[in-house]
Amino acid sequence: MHTPEEDARARDAADPGHRHLFLVPPAEGGRHPEVAYLAGNSLGLQPRATREELLADLDAWRRLGVEGHLEAERPWLPYHELLTAPAARLVGARPAETVVMNSLTVNLHLLMVSFYRPAGERTRIVIEDSAFPSDSYAVRSQARFHGLDPDTAVVRLRPRAGEDTLRTQDVLDFLAAEGHTVALLLLGGVNYLTGELMDIPAITAAGRAAGALVGWDLAHAAGNVPLSLHDWDVDFAAWCSYKYLNSGPGALAGVFVHERHLGDPELPRFEGWWSTEAATRFEMTPVSRPPATVEAWQISNPPIFAMGPVRTSLELFDAVGMPALRARSLRLTGYLETLLDEVTADRPLTVITPRDPARRGCQLSVRIGAGSANELTKRLRHEHGVIADAREPDVVRFAPVPLYSTYHDCWRVADALAATVEVDR
Ligand SMILES: Cc1ncc(COP(=O)(O)O)c(C=O)c1O
Repeated sequence: MHTPEEDARARDAADPGHRHLFLVPPAEGGRHPEVAYLAGNSLGLQPRATREELLADLDAWRRLGVEGHLEAERPWLPYHELLTAPAARLVGARPAETVVMNSLTVNLHLLMVSFYRPAGERTRIVIEDSAFPSDSYAVRSQARFHGLDPDTAVVRLRPRAGEDTLRTQDVLDFLAAEGHTVALLLLGGVNYLTGELMDIPAITAAGRAAGALVGWDLAHAAGNVPLSLHDWDVDFAAWCSYKYLNSGPGALAGVFVHERHLGDPELPRFEGWWSTEAATRFEMTPVSRPPATVEAWQISNPPIFAMGPVRTSLELFDAVGMPALRARSLRLTGYLETLLDEVTADRPLTVITPRDPARRGCQLSVRIGAGSANELTKRLRHEHGVIADAREPDVVRFAPVPLYSTYHDCWRVADALAATVEVDR
């Protein structure tokens, strides 16, 4: 490594981020007491405030029993409403367009109930070939649900031969040529494997112009890159909260439905108690009266103890603000990229994430030319205290998260790779 450790330390002193608000796990290997945590794209770290928040909600249950629905400090009946405005700010939506509920894939299915309605020659769902596998399972099962053959109903857009990421132009060209057959376009905003940030506004506009509905899986985009879902005219979107939103394993997820679809009585939707207007909920009538907001997509009464961590996290994002986070993200990721360039130059390692900062979030994915990704991440962890994330067979993902990662974490990644991966001969 040419870049000295002191260089990273100096950058941290000048640009410290908000690590003090998080609990960083102890390292099991290497010479540093804490891990260099680069896996926030998989599971974000625990904010210090989360425990207190959870304990307060537990305490309300202890003290109040059923009366907590109305009398808890944060009453349970309207608890989800506390999350709506901050979630809307995070993704560039109006409050009526955003709700926190369920988990990601459950939400994608509920949204596809409304927005995947194959008819005539317009039957296909378009995803990217490197979509997260569960998205592929979800859309294939939706096709089967409608009596279609998933092998023909699901179109997988591939990068050009020899390339790792999908070109926006290729998506636009596909839509121009075959858009009339597309019922739904459902892509990842930031690709989970390559870290590529798609051109969400351009692709959304082209998809809608072709007459398709356009949804986005924002699991790797929410809290990672600035989003303007309302202005971009996205039809719907869903995201999880356990990655960049640091709300804990399996945390409650978020949903966006554009306001042009709200209150549309023609849209199919599945309903339950929480789909009806709050004011009429206790009238105990057999027919629901859904509000003209995305809350109409809610079904069950929400798990209160799972909402506190999301609330805590969204408060943090509100306090720091996405513009400041994105600015630090560009600095940190740019630094990691420079350090990786040093290490990859003479080793069988290739960064496959786009080089253009405008086409990526904070994740850099490295393809390894020899050995297994799992083996490499195990060695990084046990020998150097570096936590990264393997996607077999050959990709290791590093995400310097602007809220809590440091320049020194980036330096440790490069130093550990230099020590672990042999130089090309
Ligand atoms: C892009 C993407 N979509 C979907 C999922 C699956 O989410 P869940 O199991 O929370 O529904 C993940 C999980 O990591 C993901 O990264």
